[in-house]
Amino acid sequence: MNSLFLTFEGPDGCGKSTQARLLAEKLRSQGYDVFLTREPGGTSLGEAVRELLLGKEYELTSSAEALLYAAARAQHVEEKIRPALAKGQIVICDRFVDSSLAYQGYGLGLSLQKLREINLFATSGLEPDLTILLDLDPQIGLARARAGRGQTDRIEERDGAFHKQVREGFLDLARSQPERFAVIQVEGLPPEEVEQLVWTRVEKLLGKQRGTFSCNKMGVKS
Ligand code: TYD
Repeated sequence: MNSLFLTFEGPDGCGKSTQARLLAEKLRSQGYDVFLTREPGGTSLGEAVRELLLGKEYELTSSAEALLYAAARAQHVEEKIRPALAKGQIVICDRFVDSSLAYQGYGLGLSLQKLREINLFATSGLEPDLTILLDLDPQIGLARARAGRGQTDRIEERDGAFHKQVREGFLDLARSQPERFAVIQVEGLPPEEVEQLVWTRVEKLLGKQRGTFSCNKMGVKS
């Protein structure tokens, strides 16, 4: 079984959706069967919950927000992600549990332990094989997100201190699980260079999965 579960994480506007798509295209061009998906979303229920979370219609409490992300995730894992992995596909997910820990934990100040518990329930213990964290100063990322879409969602509208804590949170999570995370500093790098750094890291994992140990040609820190 050659299934793999890869996630992309990072502050808003770090370019992870583009990189997730580029990686999916590259893997497909090499003959891999890829399922590309995102959170919040990925199922019709998840997309409806996404509207509630990112729209501005409701004032959500922090715990309601965390539980809605987890509810969308529970549906996603059971309906889409686990079946794709069972078929031997490579699943690439744009955000997963680490986003809840970074945004609702480090950002909003909810207990990391409680967030881990509700997410353990939501995912039935599913963890990514590799998480690619695209790190970027959130000021730059938010400016990029605004310029790209011309508008901001409910989460993007939170203040600079919130986004700074989210970024620090992601870096902290990466430090605590260095074997799962690959951190790529994207500031000032064109998308093609980021794509190459991502590919080097994924290639290494594919090599390991085949039982061979490919050398790390680009010298990317894992
Ligand atoms: P994303 O789709 O990555 O935003 P965009 O495509 O607009 O850049 O994510 C939507 C927002 O939801 C983003 O601000 C991060 C936030 N989020 C959380 O706060 N917790 C979570 O668990 C997830 C998955 C996302």
